[in-house]
Amino acid sequence: MTTATQNNVLEVKDIQTFIGQFHILDGVSVDVPDGSITVLLGRNGAGKTTTLKSIIGLTPPRHGAISLFGKEIQGEPAYRIAAKGIGYVPEHRAIFRDLSVEENLRIAERKPGDLARRADFIFDLFPDLKRLIKLPGGNLSGGQQQMLAVARALVPENRLLLIDEPSEGLAPVIIEQMMVALRRLSAHTTVLLVEQNFIMASQLADRYTIIETGRSVKSGLMSELVNDTATIKRYLGAA
Ligand SMILES: Nc1ncnc2c1ncn2[C@@H]1O[C@H](COP(=O)(O)OP(=O)(O)OP(=O)(O)O)[C@@H](O)[C@H]1O
Ligand SMILES: [Mg+2]
Repeated sequence: MTTATQNNVLEVKDIQTFIGQFHILDGVSVDVPDGSITVLLGRNGAGKTTTLKSIIGLTPPRHGAISLFGKEIQGEPAYRIAAKGIGYVPEHRAIFRDLSVEENLRIAERKPGDLARRADFIFDLFPDLKRLIKLPGGNLSGGQQQMLAVARALVPENRLLLIDEPSEGLAPVIIEQMMVALRRLSAHTTVLLVEQNFIMASQLADRYTIIETGRSVKSGLMSELVNDTATIKRYLGAA
């Protein structure tokens, strides 16, 4: 085993994922080093969400390997994969609109008392949620709902967070707040992020992997990608 391998919390190797008869992922590989923020980039429909769902086991890959903390997990059911210490913040937030903020957080407990143990950490990151704790999730603004979606993944102590498009549909000032929270969060937890807002991605992430029509086509240091206008233009459609 190489040193690089030992330092990766997650290694996705050449996965192929089908949804029904559709061949959605056709060779995606991603390494996520311990302590990093790694971002998946790519155009709409490239396969970013399906990559996260394949990792967590919601759309298990048919071929390829996924190692989490050094052990292969592909083929295990989603609940068992999550219990190994992965938090998943899905696209479009998926919070329960009729449950209060507190209830939304409580149902994310993996063990009784998780929320009580983690409350200081969570409310320090997202002070608004403490103020809104008794309100139904559906009464929250889009930004507050996104914060709740991230907070929910923090209720059990996870070593890896998969976060899908946290900036989607949010105003710039809220995106700024979310970035501050994610940066603070990354001091405690490794993050694999999907983010189409390139400014946000480039300011947050240490590493990137670009996905194009179901394949990972390029990976590396974000500090190098920001100066590589040819790659940005070719795969992300902007320079
Ligand atoms: N349930 C499904 N049935 C059929 N095709 C699907 C299904 N889910 C996703 N796809 C297709 O798989 C491809 C990848 O979708 P995915 O949601 O992973 O892309 P994405 O990169 O997350 O896109 P976006 O930026 O729009 O969120 C798309 O072409 C999409 O239409
Ligand atoms: Mg998506």
